Amino acid sequence: MLLEIKNLHASVEDKEILKGVNLTIKAGEVHAIMGPNGAGKSTLGNILSGKDGYKITKGEVLFNGKSILDLDPEERAALGVFLSFQYPVEIPGVSNTQFLKTAVNSVRKARGEDELDAMNFMKTLRQNMQILQMDQKYMKRGVNEGFSGGEKKRNEMLQMMMLEPKLCILDETDSGLDIDALQVVSKGANHMRTEDRGFIVITHYQRLLNYITPDYVHVLAEGKIVRSGDKTLALELEEKGYSWVNA
Ligand SMILES: Nc1ncnc2c1ncn2[C@@H]1O[C@H](COP(=O)(O)OP(=O)(O)OP(=O)(O)O)[C@@H](O)[C@H]1O
Ligand SMILES: [Mg+2]
Repeated sequence: MLLEIKNLHASVEDKEILKGVNLTIKAGEVHAIMGPNGAGKSTLGNILSGKDGYKITKGEVLFNGKSILDLDPEERAALGVFLSFQYPVEIPGVSNTQFLKTAVNSVRKARGEDELDAMNFMKTLRQNMQILQMDQKYMKRGVNEGFSGGEKKRNEMLQMMMLEPKLCILDETDSGLDIDALQVVSKGANHMRTEDRGFIVITHYQRLLNYITPDYVHVLAEGKIVRSGDKTLALELEEKGYSWVNA
């Protein structure tokens, strides 16, 4: 099993946010998580990636059978956990290329793999940028420096493609994207969709799931998964709203 979340309870500043989340993801599967504002979706993503500020009060998270809750974010990244938004929003003065190269090689090193030489790195980078229809000029600029909202999202997808994680967590990757960018970013995600990789796609909109077709859809409400189904659940939610689920 790629990921097992068992009865996860977590709080922030003594307020309980997650109240017993259970979720199991096999390699090759895409799970969408939907749910009302403030339900705990981002909290769940952040906790999986190892972001601090959360107190786990109960339950466990197993990644490939091993507990990861005691690992720091870098160790989890090395194992293959990737959260969009995980990386600093803007790093002026550090070129995008340099940043990606450092990030990719530190993850490779932690996995016991050789560093990518400059030529192979640039080749992979160009291929991925082509899929995302990103202009080369974005590589010389500081990381996300002056990037528009949509350009940052593409860049985030590029980071994910370069790091080749085993678990990709996308938190509202679709927000603020124009229609073309939505398709392009989805293309990047679908390109990464392989038998050995799993996805958690957090979104408010069914529209994204037309492009990235989920195997399962879950509704997280008030800190718990209150309903799970296939992709038709997203359509039903769009039509009937969340009150229908809670009723
Ligand atoms: N650092 C924090 N301090 C206080 N409360 C927090 C903190 N982080 C999260 N919360 C609270 O936890 C709850 C869940 O937040 P979270 O961001 O996980 O929701 P969400 O499901 O991602 O919502 P949205 O759909 O609006 O993104 C919210 O009520 C939020 O205010
Ligand atoms: Mg959120």
